[in-house]
Amino acid sequence: MSETSMQFASTLKVWRERAKAYADRILSLPNDSFEKTLSVAFWLCLVCAVLVAFSAVALKSLQEDNKAADMRRNILEVVGLWREGADINEAFKRFEVKVIDLKTGELAKDVDPNTYDMRKAAKDFKLSEPLPRDKDVASIKRKPKYATVYFLKDENGELNALVLPVWGYGLWSTMYGFLALEPDCNTVIGINFYDQKETPGLGGEVVNPNWRALWKGKRIYDQAGTPVLRLIKGRVNPGQEKAEFLVDGLAGATLTSNGVSNLIRFWLGEEGYKPFLAKQCPK
Ligand SMILES: Cc1cc2nc3c(=O)[nH]c(=O)nc-3n(C[C@H](O)[C@H](O)[C@H](O)COP(=O)(O)O)c2cc1C
Repeated sequence: MSETSMQFASTLKVWRERAKAYADRILSLPNDSFEKTLSVAFWLCLVCAVLVAFSAVALKSLQEDNKAADMRRNILEVVGLWREGADINEAFKRFEVKVIDLKTGELAKDVDPNTYDMRKAAKDFKLSEPLPRDKDVASIKRKPKYATVYFLKDENGELNALVLPVWGYGLWSTMYGFLALEPDCNTVIGINFYDQKETPGLGGEVVNPNWRALWKGKRIYDQAGTPVLRLIKGRVNPGQEKAEFLVDGLAGATLTSNGVSNLIRFWLGEEGYKPFLAKQCPK
């Protein structure tokens, strides 16, 4: 054994003996002694803190993987491709993920779609810009400069759908979701909300599959290119004028419904994806 390891072993032995002596002394004290109570509480806290810190660090990458998988599941779901038990990553291979500059609608070539987080960017002062009141239709305060757009392709590379992240304020919360459009950039395939805190049974019905099914085939832009799709109070009569631009409002939840109309108006408007969609689907 080398001299250093012998020194280390003897130091360890000394410390072990000291620790044992300390433990014996504390444990021999009466249970209601101040020192014993304080020592037990201290060591218990220390052990728990180490365990919690260790789990947080060790599980971080797993948590991030789960978050990414959940996002992918939501994207697959909004285009009707999600099947229970399916391999999410395999199914997601049909998507091409790109980052666009919201202002120009052009591809942002220097932003990596694999690492760019649009939600995080919206809170980052360098990657977002404040919205003046008159433009902040969806009450989101800041908008990211770049947006992640998901292109669903078939086996021949033909575009089947575009999935756009959207968010806006309801009554109690910011509702985060995805809107899927046909390749014509105007017809809705579906909408879903994966993060919202509206009241279950009222505004929380934004996640109800029956209500979400009403969106299929609805249209966003009128002849003038204005995003006019909105929720109305009550039910849409299929025969009524402009029914293709109207969706049933959520019963007893007009404020959440307004929030959904507003987020559509914002994200499909000039401040949102309109410049990109105009380039993607030129008239
Ligand atoms: C406990 C509670 C929770 C509510 N949650 C919501 C909600 O999530 N979304 C919403 O728009 N309205 C909610 N409302 C109702 C609103 O206060 C408001 O009355 C409603 O939006 C008006 O819609 P209506 O005109 O369709 O009745 C809630 C009301 C109460 C008392």
